Amino acid sequence: MEAIKAPRGTRDVLGDESWKWAYVTDVCRGVADDYGYREVHLPIFEHTELFARGVGDTTDIVEKEMYTFEDRGGRSITLRPEMTASMVRSYVEHELRNGPQPVKLWGVGPMFRYERPQKGRYRQFVQFDMEALGAEDAFVDLEIIDFSMEIFRRLGLKNLKVVLNSVGCPNCRPGYRKALQDFLRPRYDELCPSCQSRFDRNPLRILDCKSPIDQEITKDAPSVLEYLCDDCKQHFEKLRRGLDKIGADVAIDNRLVRGLDYYTKTAYEILSGDIGAQSAICGGGRYDNLAEAIGGPHVPGVGFASGIDRVILTMEAQGCSFGREPKNRVYVVAADESASLEALDLVRKLRMANVSADMDYMGRSMKSQMKSAAGTAEYACILGADEIAKNVVTVKHLSDSTQEELTVEQLVNKLK
Ligand code: HAM
Repeated sequence: MEAIKAPRGTRDVLGDESWKWAYVTDVCRGVADDYGYREVHLPIFEHTELFARGVGDTTDIVEKEMYTFEDRGGRSITLRPEMTASMVRSYVEHELRNGPQPVKLWGVGPMFRYERPQKGRYRQFVQFDMEALGAEDAFVDLEIIDFSMEIFRRLGLKNLKVVLNSVGCPNCRPGYRKALQDFLRPRYDELCPSCQSRFDRNPLRILDCKSPIDQEITKDAPSVLEYLCDDCKQHFEKLRRGLDKIGADVAIDNRLVRGLDYYTKTAYEILSGDIGAQSAICGGGRYDNLAEAIGGPHVPGVGFASGIDRVILTMEAQGCSFGREPKNRVYVVAADESASLEALDLVRKLRMANVSADMDYMGRSMKSQMKSAAGTAEYACILGADEIAKNVVTVKHLSDSTQEELTVEQLVNKLK
């Protein structure tokens, strides 16, 4: 029988990589603290309806990428493809609008999308998701964009491109939608089959198509920015003034339409040229009608999510630092079989004093134990008949090979 492998599009993050994940998560957590966002833990599965209504049933996510199944009680359940809809559901469910606004939340965890796997695109991937709920002001959009840029600044990422657009609101978007359809109609037959099917249901997505023919057709399409109503225009201008004030390097891209239906006004992405086709390391925007779409009251909101898999790929490609790879402080070496019981006791005493320590369990020679010590720890603590008789440990500092004899108490005090 062939050994069972992980499903396509998933991957195991093992010890040689997971410390990088911990580093990135710690940096994000630090930025979230500085910006006043509080961590939440939300369910990984929700009622399918939440995403169908929230994300939008003409999106690729809802149409073809969701992991949906019926649970044993006959309910339709979906593994979350993103976190924003859950954040809004939670805000509504717990009546968070009764407290001070905006409510600023963040979370991290796995998302699930049945996409075609490739470098930087997985079926299970981890997102950081930050949301500010309950405020309409463009300066909250500014805070969100600044927040995401600050994470990448602290991680040491370079050469990122921040692209920004306004996708309007239900007042002005129908006018733009119609203008775009009128523009595309004469060349409808040349559009790719998926854009033909988007023509009536979601024509803005045609601007996002990767097919060169469709890109050529939409090259001179009307700009959404010219169709914004006064409210959307003022909001966008206020945001741009704020971005200028903080000196943020942001490019306007009037063709940026995001793959989720809930966006109103602000939409933005942060791209890296260093990781191939899946270049978006962050995406976000405003979604003032999402709460109503899922049966709640009017709750304006804005947020972003960043894929940690892609952030780490970019950091690796750019040679960024992940801090120090964790190492044990001590490897206890038993000179012979009779010392192994003392070694066990020493390892335990060190661990109880918060000094990370390990030892050999494979009955290996002293030489190969020293080799393990050199590869995994800062100090080798050698225990043999002599040491046991004198009630001491020989402590060898592995980086400079200096050594000294210490009692266990002296050793713990030295390393604590
Ligand atoms: P999104 O653009 O679908 O937006 O995803 C955000 C980020 O998640 C992407 O920029 C990318 O870094 C990462 N990502 C998405 N799909 C994959 C995948 N298959 N494999 C690896 N990484 C992936 C959202 O999810 C919105 N909820 C963002 C948001 C929050 N908007 C407002 N608030």
